[in-house]
Amino acid sequence: MVDDAGPELPEVGRKAAMRDFVAALKSPFTYSWNNLGAVAGLLWGLPVPFFSLLVDVLASGRPFTPSLILERPIRVFFLLHPFLFAVAFGAMGTVRRRQGRTIARLVLTLEKRAAELSGANAKLQELDRLKAEFMANVTHELKTPLVAIRGYAELILDGKLGTFPESQQEGFAIVRRSAERLHRMIDELLEFQKIDGGGLTLAIEEFDLVSDAREAARTFLPQIQEKGIVLHLELPETLTVKADPEKIGRVLLNLLSNAVKFSPPNGNLWMAIRAGERALVRIADEGPGLSDEAQKHLFTRFWQADGSSRRRHGGSGLGLAIVKGILDAHGCAIRISPREGRGTEALFDLPLPAPAAVAEVTP
Ligand SMILES: Nc1ncnc2c1ncn2[C@@H]1O[C@H](COP(=O)(O)OP(=O)(O)O)[C@@H](O)[C@H]1O
Ligand SMILES: [Mg+2]
Repeated sequence: MVDDAGPELPEVGRKAAMRDFVAALKSPFTYSWNNLGAVAGLLWGLPVPFFSLLVDVLASGRPFTPSLILERPIRVFFLLHPFLFAVAFGAMGTVRRRQGRTIARLVLTLEKRAAELSGANAKLQELDRLKAEFMANVTHELKTPLVAIRGYAELILDGKLGTFPESQQEGFAIVRRSAERLHRMIDELLEFQKIDGGGLTLAIEEFDLVSDAREAARTFLPQIQEKGIVLHLELPETLTVKADPEKIGRVLLNLLSNAVKFSPPNGNLWMAIRAGERALVRIADEGPGLSDEAQKHLFTRFWQADGSSRRRHGGSGLGLAIVKGILDAHGCAIRISPREGRGTEALFDLPLPAPAAVAEVTP
C-alpha cells in the first residue's frame, strides 16, 4: 500500500510566516530596486505623508516650512510611511521569491526523478521481454531431446529394439516416467508463458466434459495404482459444455495432479461432475489440506506451501496459476478450500450451451 501523505510539505501557519518575514528583512533583495514589492510599497506609501502633512499644515493656517515637520513627532512618522511600506512589501516580495525558487527546485527534482524512473521502466520492460524470449527458447529446446528419450525408452520397453534383460525393465520404466514428468513440467512452463504474456486465445466449442474428465483420470492411473488411491468417479453419462476443450483438459490435469500428488497412500480421491445452471466440477482428496496462508497464495505463480529444496513433492508451482488464468479467460470461478474432515477440494464451474441451441435439437 502506498501512503498517500506524500512528501513533507513546508511548515505553514502564522509562526512560520512571521519567521520567514523576519528572515526576509535581513535579505538585501528586500531593499533592492529589482524587488517589485519594494517599489510598489514605496509608491503605495507616498500619498500618506503628502496628504496627512497637507491637511495638518492647512489646519494650522501657517505656511509650510521643513521645520514644521520636526515640530510634531507624528509628522516624522507620516513622512517615513513610504519607506515602511517599501520595507514591508519588499520583505513579502523576498518571501515570495524564496518560495518560488523552492517550488522551481522541487519541480526540477521531480522532473529528474520522473525521467530516471521512465528510463528504469523501459530497461525493466526490455529485460522482461528478453526473459520471456529466453524462457520460450530454452523450454522449446529442452523438449526436443526429451521426446527422443521418451520415444526410445518406450521402444526399448515394448521390445522393439530387441530383447533386454528383465533386470533392466524397472530402470527403463523409471526413465520413461521421469521423462514424462519432465515433459509435463515443460508443457506447464510453455502454457504459463502464454497466459502470462497475455497470449492466451480460447477456441470455444461444445464438447463432452465427462469424456474429457475420464481421459484426464486415465492419465494418472499408474500413480493412482502405485499409491493405492481409491478413485471415486461421480460422473453423468455425458454433459456438454461450451468452453475450450484443450484448455479445460489442462485444468482437469493440473487439479488431478495436485490431488494425486498430495493424497496419502490408500487415500480416497473424488472427481464429481454435476449439471445445474452450469456444469460444476469437484475434485477432492484426503491430503494435508490447506493452511490459511496456503489459501491466500495458491494461485500465485511459483508459490508452493513447501518451497524448500528438500520438499517431498516436486512441481513448479505454476499449476494453479495456469488453472486460474484459463478459468479467468473463460469468465469462470474456481474455489480451492480445505475439505470438511480432511484434505482439499477444488470446485469450478463451466457454462452449458445456450438454452436456445438446446431447444432446437430437442423436439
Ligand atoms: N490438493 C492439494 N492439497 C494440498 N496442497 C495443495 C493442493 N493443491 C495445491 N496445493 C498447494 O498449492 C501449491 C501450488 O500448487 P501448484 O500451483 O499446482 O504447483 P505445484 O503442484 O507445482 O507445487 C502446492 O505446492 C501445494 O503447496
Ligand atoms: Mg500442481
